[in-house]
Amino acid sequence: MSSILDPKQTTAPKGYRSHWYPYYAGFSPLFAQSALEYLNAKKGDIIVDPWNGSGTTTFVSARSGIASVGVDLNPVMTIVAKARSSTIEDYIQAKVIALDAIANFDQMRKNRSDEDMLTYWFTKESAKIIRQLEYSMRFSRDIPNESVSTGSLSDSEALVYLALFRVVRNFIKRFIGSNDTWIRKTKTSAEKVKITKYELISEFARETSALFAESTKETDRHLLKPKIFTGDSKMTPLSAESADFIITSPPYCTRIDYAVKTTPELAIIGHNPKTFDQIRRSLMGTTTVSKDIGDIDSSWGQECLIFLNRLKSHRSKASGGYYYKSHFEYFSSLYQSIREMDRILKSNGKAVLVIQDSYYKEIHNNVPLIAQEMAGSVNLNIENVFEFSKNLSMASINTRSNIYRPIYTPKESVLVFSKS
Ligand SMILES: C[S@@+](CC[C@H](N)C(=O)[O-])C[C@H]1O[C@@H](n2cnc3c(N)ncnc32)[C@H](O)[C@@H]1O
Repeated sequence: MSSILDPKQTTAPKGYRSHWYPYYAGFSPLFAQSALEYLNAKKGDIIVDPWNGSGTTTFVSARSGIASVGVDLNPVMTIVAKARSSTIEDYIQAKVIALDAIANFDQMRKNRSDEDMLTYWFTKESAKIIRQLEYSMRFSRDIPNESVSTGSLSDSEALVYLALFRVVRNFIKRFIGSNDTWIRKTKTSAEKVKITKYELISEFARETSALFAESTKETDRHLLKPKIFTGDSKMTPLSAESADFIITSPPYCTRIDYAVKTTPELAIIGHNPKTFDQIRRSLMGTTTVSKDIGDIDSSWGQECLIFLNRLKSHRSKASGGYYYKSHFEYFSSLYQSIREMDRILKSNGKAVLVIQDSYYKEIHNNVPLIAQEMAGSVNLNIENVFEFSKNLSMASINTRSNIYRPIYTPKESVLVFSKS
């Protein structure tokens, strides 16, 4: 039996396309490859990733000629994952879309009726120019005032959007923190980025060519296109017992706002502050909490119940209120998602989950153990655990959270479950 590599090992060769959209939450394609080998996955099997992110699982499966399905609730990640599994044919089609977009640019000047989130970083006029290019890219799609429906986007259209994502990120680079942990909005109009139509179009042409130069025949050789959906891990669009294997990584339990990290991209695909907020609230691990939460379910297991009780009675401000609620919601979603994995897995199917532990103040949040206990309450039995230590995590970036506890190195666990 082959061994599983460290999920955070970052030295994947260019052919794995991780650098197309560097996703701070992604795992290494070499890890995903090692998981496929460990599972002995072969052609004819179906691999699922219910938290697909930048599409590492689906791309690596596709590259090995194995069918796969990827689900993520953030529509930006649907676009990134679709673009990542594009072929030379998609590239040729994408080139036509990009050239048409540039050619039709001048006829596409329309005003949005709602607030354009691009003005968070760009002057009104510059935001209009970017929007004009984006409308022009939608060419035959007559939906000028709505956000793009990612479900109906082809892989070539996704590629063109990915190029525009990269263009906008380049223009607003100075507002993005190192390792993408925050993106600052401008406070004054003097700070806003000003661009001309020619600057935009030349950057767009440059990024499109750069991306496309890497759509090589080598990657295409065995590529079996994955199915990528925008959907919820708590209710995936998959039928019962349809998956042979799951390779995935749930959102971190350290209150990372996945939607906020993709604000520029959500702005580009046409979201307004209201629809942005809806996406943000719907994502697992978000910093927002609902007014009412349900009751603890004993199936979440001992470790989870003990953790939540310690949190509730912690002396520090907001622990028993806001923080209790946000952790409660996280575990509730994790449990529902694990049940869903159990539903979609075939019997004898296996699931590989990458999960990190963390601390709330001095209380150890042993998410890997909690996930094992949750899985134990359905039909998923733990078969193997691999542990890797990391030097830098979201928890250690926030130095204020270190006040209550000694220096700690987060542990990344790879849990392998099999369905009885
Ligand atoms: C740790 S990341 C996965 C990264 C992925 N393994 C990769 O290599 O890019 C977790 C992902 O879960 C997504 N997510 C959060 N809540 C979700 C939900 N309820 N259903 C599906 N996806 C969700 C986030 O948008 C994020 O992309």
